[in-house]
Amino acid sequence: MSLRLIAGGRDAPKLPGLLVVGASEVVTMSGGLRAGSDQGAIGRRAAADAGGPTAPNAPAVAIWDGRIIGVAGLADLERALGAEGYPIGRFERLDARGGAVTPGLVDPHTHLLFAGSREGELELRQRGAAYLEILAAGGGILATVAATRGASSETLAVHGRRWLGEMLGHGVTTIEAKSGYGLDLATELRLLEIAHHLGREGPIEVVPTWLGAHAVPPEFRGRPDGTESYVRHLLDEQLPGIAAQGRAVAADVFCEEGVFTADQSRRVLMAAAALGLRPRLHADELTPSGGAELAAEIGATTADHLATPSDAGIAALAAAAADGRPVVATLLPATTWFLMKDRHAPARTFIDAGVPVAIGTDFNPGTSPTPSLPLAMTAACLNLRMSPDEVLAAVTINAAQALGLADEIGSLEPGKQADLVVWKVPTSRQIPYWPAADLVRTVVKRGEVVLAEA
Ligand code: NIG
Ligand code: FE
Repeated sequence: MSLRLIAGGRDAPKLPGLLVVGASEVVTMSGGLRAGSDQGAIGRRAAADAGGPTAPNAPAVAIWDGRIIGVAGLADLERALGAEGYPIGRFERLDARGGAVTPGLVDPHTHLLFAGSREGELELRQRGAAYLEILAAGGGILATVAATRGASSETLAVHGRRWLGEMLGHGVTTIEAKSGYGLDLATELRLLEIAHHLGREGPIEVVPTWLGAHAVPPEFRGRPDGTESYVRHLLDEQLPGIAAQGRAVAADVFCEEGVFTADQSRRVLMAAAALGLRPRLHADELTPSGGAELAAEIGATTADHLATPSDAGIAALAAAAADGRPVVATLLPATTWFLMKDRHAPARTFIDAGVPVAIGTDFNPGTSPTPSLPLAMTAACLNLRMSPDEVLAAVTINAAQALGLADEIGSLEPGKQADLVVWKVPTSRQIPYWPAADLVRTVVKRGEVVLAEA
């Protein structure tokens, strides 16, 4: 990839202001969570309306001290900045050179930290093995658990940095990172600590989620009541330790036939919520398992996957949205693609029902080994039949809401953190249109240029 990582941000002397100019379009995504017929209302400001990207009043973005202070035509913006007393000479200029400018992408669902790889399972599945059969036989997630428990924190951090670098190269400025490959308190704590540490290191911001309820680990499997005793371990030992550590901001459960029931998931998530962790769940990924219903019932922040929800589950999510307590349907089309599924999440049904939709990669070594959110965006267009504009809202403001960060990131609005991407293509509609292409020109995180074309 022809990109250069600028470790410490822009070269000295660092100016507090940044003006992003020369864009073909600026997508503001202003106005909060998107749902229903507004899912695709993205706030596109086209330079063509002002006479082109280099016209005097072409759309521009002004940043001061890491925050957005305005998005408007350049001439209008400069006038307003002068009137408000900003020193125009203290703004550096970033020329988008005819590219589109969007909010930084937000990946709301990743399993960033793990050791090893599982390419063998791809061939097993090609020969007809089912994902849950591989897991039941002690492979799948459990193979990664064994590798992860045996890996040093340094090895895991090096792995995390490597994939975060790839994500940044695809225009991602914030991600969620789940634990879930430790399944014992010590390793789960270690994974959450590393996720937190990598986020502090930057430039990608990392939101850690505890996923102790990802699978039943081998030491509990031999027992007749293995799943139930692991649930009790989660409640009595893991969760208190995780809460005391204070790194995880959310709790997740793999609510799925043969893994954790809706009832077990409810107990874990309610206990986690009581300790201040936002509940979310892997819901109805492979079979209808009551996950969507549970998410609506407990007011989960997100219900993820939803490839096979029941009609009652869809209705429950629609009712929650209509009641003003929306659960973000966080759909993961790269996973259904990689698992060679014919059935995909009913995104159009969710959108018609007013349920807000977010899209993530689900980056993990089993079902979705891709760090590319733009590739997941393509899959959302092709398999979920979402429009490119709907998908962009799904990976910016709605993904921010999925992480509880919609007041800080996900749109280019005055007061928000200045996270944006300058693309090599002139419109955001081309982001999902060129799958697997290298489309990122510049990434700005908290007002700093952190990645630039060489
Ligand atoms: O979201 N289904 C549960 N968790 C991941 C897969 C994890 C793995 O296979 O390692 C998912 O698909
Ligand atoms: Fe997942």
